[in-house]
Amino acid sequence: MTLPGGSAMHWLGHRLGLARARTQTTEAERRCLAQHARGRRSLVEIGVMHGVGTRLLREVMHPDGTLAAIDPFPPGRLGISFERLVARREAAQVPRGRVIFDRRPSRDVAAGWTAPVDFLFIDGDHSRAGIEADWQGWRRFIPVGGLIALHDSRAVPGHPVLDSVRYTEEVILPDPAFTVVDAVDSLTMLQRVAPDRP
Ligand SMILES: C[S@@+](CC[C@H](N)C(=O)[O-])C[C@H]1O[C@@H](n2cnc3c(N)ncnc32)[C@H](O)[C@@H]1O
Repeated sequence: MTLPGGSAMHWLGHRLGLARARTQTTEAERRCLAQHARGRRSLVEIGVMHGVGTRLLREVMHPDGTLAAIDPFPPGRLGISFERLVARREAAQVPRGRVIFDRRPSRDVAAGWTAPVDFLFIDGDHSRAGIEADWQGWRRFIPVGGLIALHDSRAVPGHPVLDSVRYTEEVILPDPAFTVVDAVDSLTMLQRVAPDRP
């Protein structure tokens, strides 16, 4: 049961050190993310929620790295996003590199983006339109050798098959510019192996 003001209570618990930030990633997925993001300099996370992934990426990225943490953090009934407050506290625990929070939807950020991204974690809108916008909008910024981590991209026993899983199977895995370098639970790790054809 979710009590009214549940996210406010959770935020208070988090501030008091009584509650942990929440995530849907598994321990094995977080180990995989940490292993592949280690030492990367230009990182983007799409979908932040409580900042568990943000903090993890910050812990392992290059000391001079920059992580763009993108999430609209829609405000709740009190007009506040308590998820955002928790995420900012989580990210602030790690004094390494820079984290830039961006509250625009990922497709709007992509539309104005210009720099290469050597580690992209896609974990935002898992609808077909959402994953399609993220894949089509961001894949061009990944140079050869760069990585894309896709959460909720593999079917997991006991869980419904999401549109993001179907899109991964139908469109992303056949993309000849990328190859799978790791896969654990619902996470797929892809590496760009070829530039796009002109
Ligand atoms: C599964 S959570 C992210 C979890 C986080 N990556 C972690 O490691 O715990 C999904 C988040 O995506 C955000 N989101 C939904 N649509 C988005 C969009 N278009 N752009 C960026 N973030 C989006 C939601 O607000 C939500 O906080």
